[in-house]
Amino acid sequence: MAASPGKRPIWPMGSSAPSDGGGVHKRRLIFGRRKGPKLSPHKEELRRTLLPGLAPKLEAGRDPRGYFAVDLDEVWLEVGFGGGEHLLELALANPRIGLIGAEPYEAGVAKLLSKLADGPLGNIRIHEGDARDIIEALPDASIGRVFILFPDPWPKTRHHKRRFVQTAMLDALARIMKPGAELRFASDDAGYADWTLERLMAHPAFAWTARVAQDWKTRPQAWPQTRYEAKALHGPPAYLSFVRRGKVA
Ligand SMILES: C[S@@+](CC[C@H](N)C(=O)[O-])C[C@H]1O[C@@H](n2cnc3c(N)ncnc32)[C@H](O)[C@@H]1O
Repeated sequence: MAASPGKRPIWPMGSSAPSDGGGVHKRRLIFGRRKGPKLSPHKEELRRTLLPGLAPKLEAGRDPRGYFAVDLDEVWLEVGFGGGEHLLELALANPRIGLIGAEPYEAGVAKLLSKLADGPLGNIRIHEGDARDIIEALPDASIGRVFILFPDPWPKTRHHKRRFVQTAMLDALARIMKPGAELRFASDDAGYADWTLERLMAHPAFAWTARVAQDWKTRPQAWPQTRYEAKALHGPPAYLSFVRRGKVA
């Protein structure tokens, strides 16, 4: 069971998850769907016309603010934004922040595009594909927040290596996150929440911010609900927030 940062244990879900061996995702596979039911002609049209202008042309080492045409304070990254509800709400509430979202599922991307159709926000960029493409391209200490919200849980032991959160991925996120940057993870799958907490608590670059159980049991303010969360299929969600250690400039 993962230790708590305070004196009393505040994390009851404990089941010792098998080791991920420190690195996976060696083959570049996305373990989810790209294609779903046929898109409506309107959504197909949006993918053809609107998406190219919003898709960052990834360049290794490029400051992510360079992917936007507006002046921004910093950039946040959402991994697997689904239909984009959370991303859009944050972008509207934080006009000086650039939001880059990655989502390989075409229908999810199309859903977000349809919400942007009347006038896309200058502080949103959409990568229709694997978040790892963006993470690999980003320079060190360039991202102010990372969101991994309700990632596919892959509950079967033999599929755990498909989970997005792996020790090697945490190394990669530690590299691109600024000191003091926040990593937000949520899951309604107790096994995946346990797995994530165990790996983040063991990682020298991250510190869990929770002090009491209520901190992870309730969604903090200014943390918009996601579409998947509204369904919360497997149980009450855990909301885990971590800070990237290091001297804040
Ligand atoms: C269960 S859904 C949750 C979607 C959304 N975050 C929500 O809470 O409504 C998980 C999403 O992660 C996406 N995903 C899976 N692997 C990914 C990857 N390597 N990069 C980016 N997104 C990924 C899936 O396509 C799927 O839309």
